[in-house]
Amino acid sequence: MPSIFLTGATGYIGGAILTRLLEHPLQRTFTITILVRSAEKASLFNDKFGPNLTAIVGSTDDVKLLRNLASDADVVFACTDADDLAATKAILNGMRDRHSDTRVAPILIHTSGTGVLSDHADGMHSSSTIYSDLNIAQLEGLSPDQPHRNVDLAVVEADSQGYVKTYIVLPSTIYGFASGPLVDAGLQNPRSQQIPKLVEVSLKRKQGGMVGKGKNWWGNVHIDDVADLYIHIFDLLAKGSHPPDFAHGRAGFYFAENGEHTLHSVGKEIAEVLSDMGMGSPTPTTFTEHETRLYFPGGTSLGSNSRCRADRGQRIGWRPFRTTRDMLDSIEAEVEATISQ
Ligand SMILES: NC(=O)c1ccc[n+]([C@@H]2O[C@H](COP(=O)([O-])OP(=O)(O)OC[C@H]3O[C@@H](n4cnc5c(N)ncnc54)[C@H](OP(=O)(O)O)[C@@H]3O)[C@@H](O)[C@H]2O)c1
Repeated sequence: MPSIFLTGATGYIGGAILTRLLEHPLQRTFTITILVRSAEKASLFNDKFGPNLTAIVGSTDDVKLLRNLASDADVVFACTDADDLAATKAILNGMRDRHSDTRVAPILIHTSGTGVLSDHADGMHSSSTIYSDLNIAQLEGLSPDQPHRNVDLAVVEADSQGYVKTYIVLPSTIYGFASGPLVDAGLQNPRSQQIPKLVEVSLKRKQGGMVGKGKNWWGNVHIDDVADLYIHIFDLLAKGSHPPDFAHGRAGFYFAENGEHTLHSVGKEIAEVLSDMGMGSPTPTTFTEHETRLYFPGGTSLGSNSRCRADRGQRIGWRPFRTTRDMLDSIEAEVEATISQ
């Protein structure tokens, strides 16, 4: 009976994957362990979704616990923080322990993000650089100082040592409301980060806004299509024969996108929805320096370019079907959700 360990079960991405695992046709043939910070949520998980699911109370900051839990798993889904090198090393150490015991390399499906591709356009210009996850030389040209990259490199290095097989999923701008029993039970964050943040700031300033002129481009992908990609990789692992581009390690990078947008197009959609509600002009305006300091105190990558094509996912049979139009159409509901929260 394969054992799965998943971190970030209460999160937007991790919860969407766990939802798929709980409804998987082979669910009775595997066990799932999750690490949850809230004791209250952990006991709800155990009561409602046992007996094949076990929730352990703890934090990824507890690297000893994390290592132990990873050492018990055949497959780890890591979905908490794409920048947490210490937690990732703890997971990898646990997987090395397992390999020492079993002589079989366990599987790590790790969450990164296409923020690794971002530049410093600040909304002022587009970019003609489009990354393909089939072009490994292009990816290897990325600076180790790019966001998430130090963690991704540690993951690839572990695979090269042979004790683990690693698959890195890099979502672009994820949008849409996560749904399912975990959301219904109040256990999972149903919302993403980028568009909800833009909506929140636009509502505060009572005017749809953007960074610079909003000329920069990002990929986008619906949360359900993202969850499908993780599960598609998981399902392929269970199969004996794999498509030729189903790579791990150095080539095991999987962008998640199904279209791209300028920041201006998102700002415009928000401005139009707000304007219809009697708030501001339908034309988005640039965040002032004061607003940038106020609303994005740690800086923001919203004005960067992060352009990519999910070629590897397509080659292995992943078929996302929501498009950029779906993303823009989802914005009205994002505004309503932010107002009512
Ligand atoms: N959303 C996107 O569009 C997107 C796109 C690309 C990459 N990513 C990256 O993917 C990662 C997950 O994103 P998300 O949108 O799913 O975020 P999220 O909804 O905030 O979920 C984060 C999850 O990690 C858990 N967590 C955080 N710190 C933890 C700790 N110290 N110990 C145990 N659990 C911890 C949270 O638990 P609690 O419930 O206890 O807080 C939650 O379950 C992030 O690194 C994000 O940057 C996201």
